[in-house]
Amino acid sequence: MTDPFDLFTLWFKEACLREESYPDAMCVSTVSKEGQPSSRQVLLKHYSHEGFVFFTNTQSRKGKDIADNPNVALNFYWKSIKRQIRIEGEAHRVSDALANEYFITRPGESKIGAWASKQSKILPSRDELDQAISFYAAEFQDEPITRPPHWSGYCIVPKLFEFWTELPFRLHDRTVFQKDSDGWQTFKLYP
Ligand SMILES: Cc1cc2nc3c(=O)[nH]c(=O)nc-3n(C[C@H](O)[C@H](O)[C@H](O)COP(=O)(O)O)c2cc1C
Repeated sequence: MTDPFDLFTLWFKEACLREESYPDAMCVSTVSKEGQPSSRQVLLKHYSHEGFVFFTNTQSRKGKDIADNPNVALNFYWKSIKRQIRIEGEAHRVSDALANEYFITRPGESKIGAWASKQSKILPSRDELDQAISFYAAEFQDEPITRPPHWSGYCIVPKLFEFWTELPFRLHDRTVFQKDSDGWQTFKLYP
């Protein structure tokens, strides 16, 4: 296969059939302006040849990291099929239209949560969060819950993929696709 997105689709479909929960979970690693890496799971909500999209609070730790340094890494690991995909690329904010399109599909409680949660900031007490939820629930009682300006998505545009398959005796298969001006170059790595 010469197109890494096609190979991603093949593996992702298999993971969706076999993985017990969250086949769409991926680890996103960012690096702060001080050079401190940090990782967390998010859900893949959309992908195409343009890239891999997740949604979040843009004022969160990851959002701040990306604003300072758009270079990120993604990691999918599916135990059920013994495969890992690593992706490296640049994160770009998605359009407001795409963020709105996805936000509308979320349950009302999640929409209120997006307004109420100051993601990644210190939470002095759970009460404070509950109060914020009640506040925004009352604010939006009689009107559609719009998308908060600090809630959006990032599209990771890949420049490198590594497809890893577990093989006996740790002699795993590793296939890399690396983008250059001629397109995707592919090669294997020692396990
Ligand atoms: C399976 C799973 C899926 C998650 N999906 C998301 C998501 O799509 N967006 C999000 O903002 N946080 C998601 N989270 C929470 C993040 O891991 C993380 O706690 C949060 O985004 C704050 O991260 P930050 O402080 O590094 O910015 C998910 C957590 C798990 C375990």
